[in-house]
Amino acid sequence: MLSYALILLCPNLVLQAQAWILQFTNPTACCSLLDSKFPGQSKVYSSSAPEYEELTFYWTPTAQQLPRCVFTPYNTQDVSTAVKLFTRKNCQFAIRSGGHSYNPGWAGIENGVLISLGYLNQTTYDPQTKLATVGGGSRWTDVYGALLPYNVTVLGGRNSDLGVGGYLTGGGISFYANEKGWAADNIGSVEIVLADGKIINASRQRHSDLFRSLKGGSNNFGVITKFRLETVDATGLFNGWYMRYPFASTDAYLAAANSYCNGGSDADTKSHIIFSASIVGTDEMTNVALMSYNGALDPTNPPSVLGSFFDGTVPDPTFQWLAPNGTIKSATDGLRDAQGSGNRYTMTTVSVHVELELLKTLRQAWLNMTTTDLRVTPGFLVQFAFQPIGQTWIAASEAKGGNSMGITSPLAVMWIQLRWDLASDDAAMLDYSRRLISRFEKIAKDAGKLARFRYLNYGDRFHDIIPHYGIQSVRRLQRSKRIYDPTNVFGRLVPGGFKIPGY
Ligand SMILES: Cc1cc2nc3c(=O)[nH]c(=O)nc-3n(C[C@H](O)[C@H](O)[C@H](O)COP(=O)(O)OP(=O)(O)OC[C@H]3O[C@@H](n4cnc5c(N)ncnc54)[C@H](O)[C@@H]3O)c2cc1C
Ligand SMILES: *[C@@H]1O[C@H](CO)[C@@H](O)[C@H](O)[C@H]1NC(C)=O
Ligand SMILES: *[C@@H]1O[C@H](CO)[C@@H](O)[C@H](O)[C@H]1NC(C)=O
Ligand SMILES: *[C@@H]1O[C@H](CO)[C@@H](O)[C@H](O)[C@H]1NC(C)=O
Ligand SMILES: *[C@@H]1O[C@H](CO)[C@@H](O)[C@H](O)[C@H]1NC(C)=O
Ligand SMILES: *[C@@H]1O[C@H](CO)[C@@H](O)[C@H](O)[C@H]1NC(C)=O
Repeated sequence: MLSYALILLCPNLVLQAQAWILQFTNPTACCSLLDSKFPGQSKVYSSSAPEYEELTFYWTPTAQQLPRCVFTPYNTQDVSTAVKLFTRKNCQFAIRSGGHSYNPGWAGIENGVLISLGYLNQTTYDPQTKLATVGGGSRWTDVYGALLPYNVTVLGGRNSDLGVGGYLTGGGISFYANEKGWAADNIGSVEIVLADGKIINASRQRHSDLFRSLKGGSNNFGVITKFRLETVDATGLFNGWYMRYPFASTDAYLAAANSYCNGGSDADTKSHIIFSASIVGTDEMTNVALMSYNGALDPTNPPSVLGSFFDGTVPDPTFQWLAPNGTIKSATDGLRDAQGSGNRYTMTTVSVHVELELLKTLRQAWLNMTTTDLRVTPGFLVQFAFQPIGQTWIAASEAKGGNSMGITSPLAVMWIQLRWDLASDDAAMLDYSRRLISRFEKIAKDAGKLARFRYLNYGDRFHDIIPHYGIQSVRRLQRSKRIYDPTNVFGRLVPGGFKIPGY
């Protein structure tokens, strides 16, 4: 606790002072200055442009903001021109890749300039280096689709609609994680536009501190225009499916989950499970496990680590394919379709060291609060979910040079997912999610099982993330800021996102 307070107390005082002195330029002026940099080209769209509505459409309307204009770069040089201008003129802006963040202002901005990277969506593959080069505004469905003809794939979203930019800079949990670690740790190098407009490549060899900082460092250092990603073989089958169990099976379900979290995921790294329990509306309650296997799946003879989920040990299973005998693309497209879009939405997260009693207590706390405290319009979904980050995952990430996230021992990332229909329920849902996650934290802490880590991509705007990476990581991130963003452009001028303490 004390260490978090201390790192928060050593801000860069000079920068803070500057922020008070410098005025932001009026966004209308920023938009027209930007437009004048691209004479005769339509790359800057005001709210009266027919394209504006589509360019400001988000996966969830909860995230919607109305920028003064949207800038759609066609290449890295365009991004560089814009960032240089924004830095020189003190224009506030936001950076958006897939726009899947549910936090308003994280990948959007009210009144400022939105850089929407959607046209930076080319994927190419080099069979010599076995690296895929992926534009910073791509969506995973297109990336997977472009790579499958080469019989390779990359570590990316389990829901194929996610963008690559936010996902990878936040860490990235993929179906291959138990075998290969965080998706961010499978980046070979990036092309990034820095605050002064300079374009550099960062990798383990070049600008290595910055490279490591970017893995979990979100939008704090620059705009990433290209990711060069290590590929994995995709010649064989890849399968994703749901297993559902009635609430009456909960004790056995949690026991099986506990055992998967404590060694199961390490024992068969081709497997992957998200455990959850959902309440939909006022009646439907189900335990749901989302599973995948990097290989064939015969439900009558599953891989042994998954046996207890199929054979009745957890009673009354219902099996449902995302896509049978499929590919990573068909499984993640299946999840995209199952998860839909257009609802109001939030997530919030905490991490714990898993043991059975703790799982039972947390689940009961979730059930109690959801069934007694939550009074909103029927039709909502409230999901309690967790998944293990085991030894093999941590070791694979470490072997590739490590990241910013500061995880050193196994834990489970746990999250609450909320979906609802009416804006008039926003306050109640956000309030509920804040109270519930505080309750979880207290229960885990009292049990001596609270982990320091919080996963950035599942975080909400009411909770710090980066201080929870630990002091060593925070120091590295602060050092990278001093070198690569010395005037704190990506803190001062980019207000949205999870920031580094002192910036
Ligand atoms: C339905 C659903 C399913 C999900 N499934 C998974 C999952 O399987 N695994 C997982 O790990 N996460 C998952 N997430 C979380 C997801 O990783 C984050 O929402 C992530 O931010 C999405 O990436 P994006 O590019 O669409 O983000 P955006 O909303 O576009 O951006 C998010 C943040 O990243 C910054 N950013 C984006 N691109 C760049 C760039 N090129 N350079 C610098 N900064 C950039 C933005 O400024 C913003 O602050 C899921 C979320 C949802 C809603
Ligand atoms: C890139 O985005 C454009 C505009 O949305 C779209 O038309 C095109 O199909 C996309 N290309 C790829 C390879 O995904
Ligand atoms: C991909 O694999 C299939 C089936 O094994 C094979 O027929 C095809 O030639 C492979 N393609 C490439 C580009 O290697
Ligand atoms: C970055 O690396 C790519 C691929 O290796 C290379 O083509 C490009 O010139 C490099 N860019 C810079 C700015 O060094
Ligand atoms: C999947 O493939 C196996 C082996 O090729 C086959 O026996 C099985 O019927 C297939 N299952 C489905 C659902 O297509
Ligand atoms: C849930 O509610 C029941 C009944 O009120 C109570 O006995 C139990 O302690 C509660 N459990 C948790 C973890 O909140």
